[in-house]
Amino acid sequence: MTKTVYIKTVGCQMNVLDSEMVIADLKRHGYTVVDSPGEADLLLYNTCSIREQAEEKTYSALGKLKETKARHPEKTIGVMGCMAQKDQETIFRRAPFVDMVVGPGQLHAIPDMLTKVTSGEGRQMAVSLGRKDGKQTVVARSHETFDPLRDPTMRPTPFQAYLRIQIGCDKFCTYCVVPNTRGPEQGRSPEEIVSEARVLAEQGALEITLLGQTVNSYRHRGPDGETDMAGLLERLHDIDGLKRIKFVTNYPKDMTARLLETIRDLPKVSPYLHVPAQSGSDAVLKRMKRGYTIADYMEMFERIETILPEASVSSDFIVGFCGETDEDFQKSVKLIERCRFKNSFIFQYSVREGTKAAANLIDDVPREVKAARNNELLAVQDRISKEDNQKLIGDTVEVLVEGPSKKADRSDPDAPVVQMTGRTICDRIVVFDGNRRQAGQLMDIQIDDVSSHTLIGRVKTVEVVSLGMPG
Ligand code: 5AD
Ligand code: SF4
Repeated sequence: MTKTVYIKTVGCQMNVLDSEMVIADLKRHGYTVVDSPGEADLLLYNTCSIREQAEEKTYSALGKLKETKARHPEKTIGVMGCMAQKDQETIFRRAPFVDMVVGPGQLHAIPDMLTKVTSGEGRQMAVSLGRKDGKQTVVARSHETFDPLRDPTMRPTPFQAYLRIQIGCDKFCTYCVVPNTRGPEQGRSPEEIVSEARVLAEQGALEITLLGQTVNSYRHRGPDGETDMAGLLERLHDIDGLKRIKFVTNYPKDMTARLLETIRDLPKVSPYLHVPAQSGSDAVLKRMKRGYTIADYMEMFERIETILPEASVSSDFIVGFCGETDEDFQKSVKLIERCRFKNSFIFQYSVREGTKAAANLIDDVPREVKAARNNELLAVQDRISKEDNQKLIGDTVEVLVEGPSKKADRSDPDAPVVQMTGRTICDRIVVFDGNRRQAGQLMDIQIDDVSSHTLIGRVKTVEVVSLGMPG
């Protein structure tokens, strides 16, 4: 008998990929995917711990399942992802009707856990070791990368795929929970990565996005020596069928000249660089233990401008980190103005249990001040994004068409012309009037108008020059 699974994913691209993997695995165990929790035998929640708000949303979604479980005790409810690793037993305490808690380093255990739950062995938990629970190698081994056969049907589009190259993080920024939830940094072997990329290309992937918390710090030591990010990109570039290679997220200190030159020399590699600065103030960066100063960041930024002048750079900022003064904050404004990022993701600092900042620093910036700084920084970034997008009016850009836009989703499904959306190789979003069959094509779009986040264009018509009939 086939069983049904519903999965709700929140958080980063790693979680999106983990959900794809878990579903591929469950399908091999006889499950089919359904779109609503009401139809499902198994309800999975893939969770995020990066900020408190993400966790509270999950706990409130779980709370709503209390009645569902009371009416349908035969349904299995599982919590996976970073919150599962971080909160462990707390999840059973706050939501006693949950049957399974699975950390991101133990996803392979899900089918076995399901068998145990359904055969009446009671609730199950599979989590990795904490950073202090053993020797580094033992802790690392308990955080396993989970990359079984790929399932193209689970991807947002069949021609775009994520590919994990690294798990965990050893940078220990003081605000961040990731080194605890995802464990020590480990690079996957280049052989495994390349063979998975070949499978993806055979499945029709035109664009792959390599994932790692600090993806440009990638390294793997094997019998033939060490492979770094530049070496890996060179190997992936040779794969037929792939048209674009992207990668996120980068760590400023590891953006070396060698890597930038490799990106420049490999046409399929996207010159889009997401390199979070987090703050424009040296004092704040020091308390964050980011490992660089603004002078270092600017040196890196100038290196990008020199070697890869066509690159688009984006950033993350945290506002209201412990001890951030108005003066510190103004330095973040200044950094955005100096670097003119393509876009920035801006977050209000949220204390995370288990981090150095939670233990040693005081969360002393009032909520209203965090909100005001968030708005101010966003406004500065939006103005800059719009100004820089305006320079593209009249240009023609190559777009990988992803599918109908959100606006088209609301329009008549049989309409011959719908608004389509896609991205340039520098990750700029482009919308244009087209048709649904264009999804998955690389098309030239001429830009007519822009907003802060979107380029608006039309399909560039090819000029036909009549040369007369030969003969
Ligand atoms: N509070 C707010 N934002 C955070 N981030 C990471 N940890 C926290 C936190 N405790 C942000 C950083 C990171 C992005 C993914 O989330 O900017 O780059
Ligand atoms: Fe978190 Fe810092 Fe690692 Fe990024 S580099 S995942 S912010 S600890």
